Amino acid sequence: MGERLGWRVATEAALYGPEGFYRRPEGPGAHFRTSVHASPLFAEAVARLLCRVDEALGRPRALDFVDMAAGRGELVTGVLAALPADVASRARGYAVEVAGRPAGLDHRIEWLAEPPKGITGLLFANEWLDNVPVDVAEVDSAGVPRLVLVRRDGRERLGEPVSGPAARWLARWWPLPAEEGLRAEIGLPRDEAWAAAVATVGRGLAVAVDYAHSAGARPPFGTLTGFREGREAAPVPDGSCDITAHVALDACALPGGRVLTQRDALRALDISGARPPLALASTQPAAYVRALASAGEAAELTATGGLGDFGWLLQPVGIAAGTPDTPLDGLLVDVPDHEEQ
Ligand SMILES: C[S@@+](CC[C@H](N)C(=O)[O-])C[C@H]1O[C@@H](n2cnc3c(N)ncnc32)[C@H](O)[C@@H]1O
Repeated sequence: MGERLGWRVATEAALYGPEGFYRRPEGPGAHFRTSVHASPLFAEAVARLLCRVDEALGRPRALDFVDMAAGRGELVTGVLAALPADVASRARGYAVEVAGRPAGLDHRIEWLAEPPKGITGLLFANEWLDNVPVDVAEVDSAGVPRLVLVRRDGRERLGEPVSGPAARWLARWWPLPAEEGLRAEIGLPRDEAWAAAVATVGRGLAVAVDYAHSAGARPPFGTLTGFREGREAAPVPDGSCDITAHVALDACALPGGRVLTQRDALRALDISGARPPLALASTQPAAYVRALASAGEAAELTATGGLGDFGWLLQPVGIAAGTPDTPLDGLLVDVPDHEEQ
């Protein structure tokens, strides 16, 4: 209880150590709802994206789909089920997870601890980077950013001034004014984790989806939070809860990367949340009820103030994504600042 560690080391042990939160049998779905759990429409949209990548790649003989940080493999299961037969017959599904393979998972899905190297297709990481542990900096009374140290019970005190690559990352991506109490999460390990994941894509697209913020609009006190049984809780690094912090996706982006909102990404993938026409209610009541339920789910996935505000970081590798004659046209939009990176 007594030893104080930086948040990165403390979180690593709390989430992924032998008794870690993500090793538990119930899986993350028991503690919070991601877009994957919110609606099957999400997996269907990702399947449509995989089909667009397939076309951009010229319909390769084997098309890979990697569900990075797969939880219990819910997304890869849904994506494979939603593919049209001519694509499904060439698709290979992989789930990459720290936790063990769940019983009953489709035997065609390969369960791995690391992403396979040199894939041709789509690597999709939904709510992974927010769980890549980071250190936290806090400005002291002299205006100096210091590392925050934490005990297993969540009690904090300030440690050494932030220095080296972490200090350079802060200066570039999250400069802290000299005002006591301001805080920032040092996103460097996420930039590195994302770069390593993208490096496993031989040709295709890598996508990271997460709660995000960007330069100029960082939260002044950071976003480090706990989640336990569906509720927000104090972040305590004892393995009893999830520990998460929103992601500086603009810092993660590699050259050629683009960030857009989930709302825009899903609209580009034909999910709008529009209600069905009322006339359908009298002519085909059952179809109307189904369409209404589906519109409700789409509205949740694209909601302002909710999942719709999530960021999608799109990172094409070796495909001309975003040019007028490619199937990804319309999905990739420019992000101001990108050229500076
Ligand atoms: C918030 S859950 C998201 C699960 C799923 N992608 C979803 O959207 O429902 C984060 C998952 O990332 C996994 N994870 C974290 N770091 C990982 C890594 N380096 N490699 C594989 N899985 C990782 C955790 O074990 C956990 O299951």
